[in-house]
Amino acid sequence: MPVFDQYTFECLSHGEEQTQRLGARLGLLLPAHVVLALIGTLGSGKTQFARGIGAGWGAMQSLRSPTFTLVQEHHRARDNAILYHIDLYRIENSAALRSLGLDEILEDDRSTSIIEWADRAPELVTLDAITVRFELINESKRRMTFSTKTMETWQILLAFRKSAFGV
Ligand SMILES: Nc1ncnc2c1ncn2[C@@H]1O[C@H](COP(=O)(O)OP(=O)(O)O)[C@@H](O)[C@H]1O
Ligand SMILES: [Mg+2]
Repeated sequence: MPVFDQYTFECLSHGEEQTQRLGARLGLLLPAHVVLALIGTLGSGKTQFARGIGAGWGAMQSLRSPTFTLVQEHHRARDNAILYHIDLYRIENSAALRSLGLDEILEDDRSTSIIEWADRAPELVTLDAITVRFELINESKRRMTFSTKTMETWQILLAFRKSAFGV
């Protein structure tokens, strides 16, 4: 797993279970107020990863691909924290985006957010977001590139890398 620069690393996943396990590792480490921006084509593994995050984070219900609701709210029993699972795939224009009220959600320091198709609303991906890019290599293989721009979120990614890969 090469380290390209201070704030980026990539890894390969060889199956959906592995992607979920990686998500769970990261979910365990996510504090409130972090925004996770997931970027990649249809079927590249964003929702599988989000499911793992929800499980690791401790969501009471499993995260799944949203059908009509673009914003799904998850809770955990331990501290009643909130995890938002947002999917912008079906967002059609900026008015529709505004109507979701995401600014308020993302600014809430008590909640953690996952945004699938975050590249459709780049203005939401602030400097302190963690970005994960998914690339389809073949039927079962995905490349995942983790990146961040602040020291605080980089520390989270380093802890995740250590927990998932031991380095
Ligand atoms: N390594 C992998 N990681 C994640 N999904 C995989 C992997 N290999 C195959 N898949 C399959 O690819 C699809 C990914 O779907 P999904 O996570 O919903 O993608 P997205 O949310 O990016 O559109 C699933 O059908 C899953 O079974
Ligand atoms: Mg999806």
